[in-house]
Amino acid sequence: MTLEQGETGHLPVLLQESIAALAIRADGVYLDCTFGRGGHSSAILERLGPSGRLIALDRDPQAVAAGGRLLERTGDGRFWIGHARFSQLGAALDSRGVEAVDGVLFDLGVSSPQLDDPSRGFSFRDDGPLDMRMDPTQGMSARQWLLVASEDEIAEVVRTYGEERFAVPIAKAIVARRRDAGESALATTAELARLVAGVVRRRQKRPEVGKDPATRTFQALRIFVNQELAELEVGLEAAVQRLRSAGRLAVISFHSLEDRIVKQFIARESGRTAERDPIRGTLAAGVRLRLRALGRVLPGDAEVARNPRARSAVLRVAERIEMSASGDGVAQ
Ligand SMILES: C[S@@+](CC[C@H](N)C(=O)[O-])C[C@H]1O[C@@H](n2cnc3c(N)ncnc32)[C@H](O)[C@@H]1O
Repeated sequence: MTLEQGETGHLPVLLQESIAALAIRADGVYLDCTFGRGGHSSAILERLGPSGRLIALDRDPQAVAAGGRLLERTGDGRFWIGHARFSQLGAALDSRGVEAVDGVLFDLGVSSPQLDDPSRGFSFRDDGPLDMRMDPTQGMSARQWLLVASEDEIAEVVRTYGEERFAVPIAKAIVARRRDAGESALATTAELARLVAGVVRRRQKRPEVGKDPATRTFQALRIFVNQELAELEVGLEAAVQRLRSAGRLAVISFHSLEDRIVKQFIARESGRTAERDPIRGTLAAGVRLRLRALGRVLPGDAEVARNPRARSAVLRVAERIEMSASGDGVAQ
């Protein structure tokens, strides 16, 4: 199965780098937690031999359907795709009888088909229903939540997940719109984008160049509605539990909140922040390391020029290790 055979519409970010980071063995078992439109999955399959396997997951039913169509067209028995969130990856692997894997990939955030389809409600540039759920069959849409949340809750979400300094006036404006327009309030992405832009522009001393004033609020609502950070934390833990010794973890993130979680997780699991004996410097009794950090990769200028979405991408890589008798983490 190749990328050309797949449905594209999404330019994979850090493709060569993340595939190299997985150090794919032809007979290995791999888990792509973010199938999207299969850019990374296709590249993994190209490197697998006849006995290799790839399990792919996505929480978006449209992505899973795209994977299903790809499977139908190619009949590739090494590949399976399931509808699941990161927090369900253990159950998904169990359902396939897979105990351990040789590599796990997370390519976080939203795909281009999600962003570019106005009916999904992620984009402030095109008008559509204010939804923002990666899985529209589950949970509350952004609008449903904004219609019932308190002003404080809205401000907290916009401040925490959008790092927006005008979170309080934005929350006040949303609640005022809700009061004035009632049931019909905040129906579309364009309505929210205009409301937020008005608040931000009135307060900004100098307008930001090249950034829509609604960017941070939309990011915040998307992260909140999809519980993206909680999913990531649970998913990283579940992935490491299933990684075989010397198996690789590769995570591509797109903003500092995600990257911080990945960085801190790898630092903790590789002993950088672990408690140590104050005199000998060895790890304190009972501390168990599970990863060795293999570094961070950023996209080159050529990729950013070709694909602006890659601009903020960071790939972090780690390897699963086992403990030696001395208590040091060693790869086996
Ligand atoms: C950036 S896209 C992946 C693109 C893919 N690597 C490709 O080359 O086509 C991220 C995908 O991850 C999915 N996703 C995000 N969070 C998820 C979660 N917690 N569980 C499962 N899938 C998730 C999204 O629905 C989206 O399809």
